[in-house]
Amino acid sequence: MIKIGHPLLLIFLGLVVIAILTLGILPWIVIYGLLLLSIGLTVWILWTALLGAGFQPTSKMVVRKMLDMAEIGPQDVLYDLGSGDGRIVTEAVKSYGARAVGIEADPIRVLWSRMSLFFNKIQDKSHIKWGNFFNTDLSEATVVTVFLGDKANQKLKVKLLKELKPGTPVVSYVWTFDDWEPVKVKKKDRIYLYRTFE
Ligand SMILES: C[S@@+](CC[C@H](N)C(=O)[O-])C[C@H]1O[C@@H](n2cnc3c(N)ncnc32)[C@H](O)[C@@H]1O
Repeated sequence: MIKIGHPLLLIFLGLVVIAILTLGILPWIVIYGLLLLSIGLTVWILWTALLGAGFQPTSKMVVRKMLDMAEIGPQDVLYDLGSGDGRIVTEAVKSYGARAVGIEADPIRVLWSRMSLFFNKIQDKSHIKWGNFFNTDLSEATVVTVFLGDKANQKLKVKLLKELKPGTPVVSYVWTFDDWEPVKVKKKDRIYLYRTFE
């Protein structure tokens, strides 16, 4: 999920280069500061990648297609597992009238997406939980969206089957759920719609 051109990796490399170039010129405190910042950024990137997936936002167009595929409406409660900057949550509320919950492990993205809900004036119908979705109760969801990775999807299967009501739509972007048969596929967009078994 972390690509070579990922902006955070570029920042990290830039800081390391600055630290090396300035050795002997800047006071040690600045050099140590830059190195600490680099380490912090690396941990930040790798940590969520290890938990399930690194950050990569879904394009607005794909978000619309995912929500259309799930036939989401005002009666629904959408859960976006690993909600990033909150764009799926926001779209589900603003364009489809649903209630929506995002679960995100990265505290900076949690803050960012909570601000976005505030500025979009949709806090009454949405919430971003800070935490690990593997440890969060999903039983309230009537629609689930994921854009994670292969390992995270396979690990999620048992939890989805255990906690979601039978027939709940689960829309996955890019990654499939191995031996589950999707009920709808948009191959070109790499969107897969599953339903928990009835
Ligand atoms: C590929 S991004 C998708 C973001 C958003 N759902 C979207 O489609 O634009 C995956 C997100 O999942 C978060 N994440 C990964 N594993 C997680 C976990 N176990 N619990 C909560 N969030 C997690 C990452 O921090 C990242 O923001």
